[in-house]
Amino acid sequence: MVRLACNVRGSVSLPGDKSISHRYAMLAALADGPSRLENYSTGADCASTLGCLRSLGVKWERKDGADNVIEVQGSALSLVAPNEPLDCGNSGSTIRMLSGIVAAQRFSIEMSGDESLSRRPMERVIAPLTAMGAQITSQNGRPPLRITGTTLKAIDYKMPVASAQVKTCLLFAGLLAEGETRIEEPLRTRDHGELALRAFGAQLDRKGNEVRIRGGQRLRGIEARVPGDLSSAAFFLCAAALFPGSQLTLTSLLMNPTRARLLDILMQMGLRISVRQLEEIHGELVGTLQVTGGKLKGATIAGADTAALIDEIPVLAAIAPYTEQGIEVRDAKELRVKESDRIASIATNLRAMGAELEEREDGLRIPGGQSLRGAEVESFGDHRIAMAFSIAALRAQGETLIRGSECAAISYPAFFPTLESLVER
Ligand code: S3P
Repeated sequence: MVRLACNVRGSVSLPGDKSISHRYAMLAALADGPSRLENYSTGADCASTLGCLRSLGVKWERKDGADNVIEVQGSALSLVAPNEPLDCGNSGSTIRMLSGIVAAQRFSIEMSGDESLSRRPMERVIAPLTAMGAQITSQNGRPPLRITGTTLKAIDYKMPVASAQVKTCLLFAGLLAEGETRIEEPLRTRDHGELALRAFGAQLDRKGNEVRIRGGQRLRGIEARVPGDLSSAAFFLCAAALFPGSQLTLTSLLMNPTRARLLDILMQMGLRISVRQLEEIHGELVGTLQVTGGKLKGATIAGADTAALIDEIPVLAAIAPYTEQGIEVRDAKELRVKESDRIASIATNLRAMGAELEEREDGLRIPGGQSLRGAEVESFGDHRIAMAFSIAALRAQGETLIRGSECAAISYPAFFPTLESLVER
């Protein structure tokens, strides 16, 4: 249950970034020697990755009595055939990125997940991995996947969909393949795969939207502290944007330019953001943000911005009715194949709270200047929808009940208590 608030104030250090945690765990599993990962994501998705790695014979343990410090013993590229199907849970990142690694192993494996994952499109990794030599069967392009690995051959691949998960899958497969793999993406997507590979000692070349990796390179273990998750911080940033008097500090936050478009958009909309203590850790920019609320203007999100903001659109849309001009989202068909059909989820919940909007096949137009009322809304089993509507609820009259809100634990188990510690009533 979330109630009307009057301000947001305080300081938070976010759990480790989900995208980086998955990649570090997978590369640590392949490396020579141990890796120590601090501030590893506490979300269930990154635990799914660790569970799959354990089934593949990788040894890892939690350290320092903490749930976010992990020590992984690198397998020096030798994974073992698991006895049972790999359970990827709700995690598209786990199944897509790990498929690039298991496709290069000399065994067969089944990868499956929960009901939501079983609806998500996998053809985007099946086609290129098959072209590299793997044999893959699926349920009409959806999980479960049955992968029979082999010695992969490098590929020259133009990706039809802008997807960092697919790019990373192919970079991992390319690392384990014979020859040089070349991947071209239609738009520049998040580059954590490239930065993580470099951090673990691999060489790759990037030119514009093209990246090349030579197969047969060895990785070495690293010690790393995962930067705070900017996509989780998005909920608090949007909460701060709702109140002109808000003051928020976010420490050790990921500031990678391929992820930070949200900060530009929120600044254009009226939030004041200053960055302190900017540093680079294993190629990733990390900084402390000081945020002050202001008047909230509207925005249009389209083209490359939509791809760059794909995980933040649910919360931007959830606050759209409170902006002056509203928010229009275009070119966002990918939102329909996330953990839920996010366009439909957003539209249903906003309407339940009394908002007017237009739902389109590839986006939404949500007028500004609206007042919402508390209501019963659905999470649709989608962590980002549950968290987005808890933010919309902060300015709605009355109380909002988010059904199934516990799914926030997919990326951020401590989200609700942390939100409560920041809001004033
Ligand atoms: C991710 C890429 C995005 C994003 C997902 C994480 C990643 O998915 O939505 O939450 O870590 O590479 P797509 O690759 O499907 O766009």
